[in-house]
Amino acid sequence: MPHVLPFLLTDHIALVTGASRGLGLEIALGLARAGAHILVNCRDAGRTGEVAARIVEEGGSAEALPFDVGDEDAGNRAFDDIGRRFGRLDIFVHNVGMRLRAPLDRISTVDFNHMLAVDLTAAFTLTKRAGALMVANGYGRIVFVTSISGTLGGRNDAAYIAAKAGLTGLMRAFACEFGAAGVTCNAIAPGPFATESNADISAERLERVRQRVALGRRGDPAEIAGPAVFLASQAASYVNGHVLTVDGGYSVTS
Ligand SMILES: NC(=O)c1ccc[n+]([C@@H]2O[C@H](COP(=O)([O-])OP(=O)(O)OC[C@H]3O[C@@H](n4cnc5c(N)ncnc54)[C@H](OP(=O)(O)O)[C@@H]3O)[C@@H](O)[C@H]2O)c1
Repeated sequence: MPHVLPFLLTDHIALVTGASRGLGLEIALGLARAGAHILVNCRDAGRTGEVAARIVEEGGSAEALPFDVGDEDAGNRAFDDIGRRFGRLDIFVHNVGMRLRAPLDRISTVDFNHMLAVDLTAAFTLTKRAGALMVANGYGRIVFVTSISGTLGGRNDAAYIAAKAGLTGLMRAFACEFGAAGVTCNAIAPGPFATESNADISAERLERVRQRVALGRRGDPAEIAGPAVFLASQAASYVNGHVLTVDGGYSVTS
């Protein structure tokens, strides 16, 4: 039996982008509880420090790595630092995603391009660096946080939908680019979760969501951790190029 505890992440170095709140925070906590050393990213240095301290207080291992994923130079400096200090990166969870809900006539080309830069191009530039470290080490787990919107479509959300669909394609491309070196790339596609970013949901919209989700409720952010740990672990050793939908059954309800 080669892997007695296939979900254990002891001695793994994991970078989680957008880990200060919401789904990214829960993914970071989940990976830390499985034993990984977490590099906690978001733009706010104070918050990355607070999250890292919380993980350490819980008995885990973490440190802050603040940078703006949309700033290529800052991302390159962060990966230079990871390479110098650790010589490897075992897990890269790219979770950052911004959203612009607006009718088409209120989404300018500048807005559209900015959304693609943060939600898609940043994934390309950062994952090239993450993948290079992993390929050199012959092992790695890359996980993108996409969205069911990337496959379903919808109104008043064109830039986000395009970016998330692109991210799914990029994930598949990286799965092929890196697979032969023992590096997998997969995606988690969340459905409606009760995160801060959705706190202003109207009662009417909330009811529609409840009606459509087969489980009859929005996801608790902590429910993203299990799927993330799975894809980041040895347990998913033969899972590559896959989109793991985590939506309570939203996308299978007619
Ligand atoms: N919540 C849902 O129901 C849902 C559903 C489907 C998909 N998703 C996807 O899941 C992911 C997380 O969603 P969420 O609702 O948890 O998001 P959120 O609450 O908006 O959190 C976003 C995180 O990313 C950080 N961040 C934002 N821009 C950044 C940048 N340019 N560079 C570095 N960090 C940045 C934020 O911290 P700072 O602002 O301090 O940098 C924060 O830590 C996103 O990709 C989203 O599209 C969410």
